[in-house]
Amino acid sequence: MKLITVRGGKKLYGKVDVSGMKNSALPIIFSTILAKDKCIIENVPNVSDISLSFDILRLLGAKVTYYQTTGVAVIDTAPLDKNFATYDIVSKMRGSTYLIGALLARFGSSHVGWPGGCDFGSRPIDQHIKGFEMLGAKVSFKEGYIDAVAPSGLVGGSVYFDMPSVGATVNVMITASLAKGETIIDNAAREPHIVDLANFLNMCGADITGAGTSTIKIRGVEALHGCTYAIVPDMIEAGTYMVAAGAVGGEVTVNRIIPKHMETVTAKLTEAGVDVEVRDTEIVVRSDGSFRGVSLRTLPYPGFPTDMQPQFGAFMCLAEGVSNITEGIFDSRFRYLEEIKKMGGVSEVVKNKAIITGQSKLVGTKVHSTDLRAGAALLIAAMAAEGETEISGVELIERGYFDIVGKLRSLGADVELIEV
Ligand code: EPZ
Repeated sequence: MKLITVRGGKKLYGKVDVSGMKNSALPIIFSTILAKDKCIIENVPNVSDISLSFDILRLLGAKVTYYQTTGVAVIDTAPLDKNFATYDIVSKMRGSTYLIGALLARFGSSHVGWPGGCDFGSRPIDQHIKGFEMLGAKVSFKEGYIDAVAPSGLVGGSVYFDMPSVGATVNVMITASLAKGETIIDNAAREPHIVDLANFLNMCGADITGAGTSTIKIRGVEALHGCTYAIVPDMIEAGTYMVAAGAVGGEVTVNRIIPKHMETVTAKLTEAGVDVEVRDTEIVVRSDGSFRGVSLRTLPYPGFPTDMQPQFGAFMCLAEGVSNITEGIFDSRFRYLEEIKKMGGVSEVVKNKAIITGQSKLVGTKVHSTDLRAGAALLIAAMAAEGETEISGVELIERGYFDIVGKLRSLGADVELIEV
């Protein structure tokens, strides 16, 4: 079993290069299924969720080569000849949901095991299903599988999402790309990774406009072809290092990013009294480790991202004063606060709200990561704490953070990855 040990109290100094965005790479990797051609994807992060997506494509018959040193993936889906993916492999990650739409668009039917996903409340896919049915597919569920079939082919239409679901927006964009006629998505997700996917699909010959707004128009085309495309930088990885620098203290430059994607994190750190300097392609965070508590509510982009909520919660456990967090996206995403309580953190959670009373210090102990962002939160708390912390559940952190231990060590943190 892997553990991360942290000896707290070391401030962070230096520059960290941000990798490509996992949650943008997954939709793009699965949508190569439509190209029936070779795609060269650059800036692909070397994390376990991405490796799993490559394994899934290989199982379906695609040829995938990933060059870890350069982050380039060469994916040829011409030989891909299966439209089904078993439950045991797709249940490991939420991103597998995109297989339903991609295989449906390519083969006219798909048979995919129920997708997994981090455990913070229910993760329904009713909006995805509503999109597929709008496009003319019949969707049924049996024995842990989702069957989608379009006997008369896929035909464009209009769909309104009850909430701006990232996954459902991705799935309908992919599926509608090869449908006959025009599709309109209203109340679409506006995340940078939605824009990234639209740019990729358009490079492959699709005709998508409006990505990044609440209304996306997809004009179906006959076929797509391969292309070369670079994934945007990971705004959540970048935000994680920004908040770590604010919480622990020091001076950290977060490099190779798109500062506009970081606006809410920059604003909240600044509100807390942390010095954040925004440059063209990097952000410098300077902190003496003392800052005020703030209140925040997670919202769909361009609101404060839910994937930054645990990291900020750890930060607020160290602030002066009381903070409030409202988790506006998931039922509840506060299990990490129970772990930080073991270190002396003081918080109270009622449904999707947390009240955090900042402490001048936390004390290291054994804690467990319940999901990848919770793991990042525990790392932040541990680096600011006194004494040694041992974090288990490391495999969850590795799903979305490439070499987080190496990157933190390069900033001066006393962090170690060990096998026991
Ligand atoms: C994506 O999940 C991300 N995962 C999540 O990141 C992220 O937290 C989330 O978007 C929100 O930004 C990937 O990209 C692989 P949603 P997704 O559909 O698509 C409800 C991480 O840490 N909903 O936008 O599943 C849903 O329950 C992970 O990297 C329905 O009710 O999120 C949630 O409350 C964690 N019905 C809300 O909408 C549906 O059909 C937003 O979900 C779909 C969603």
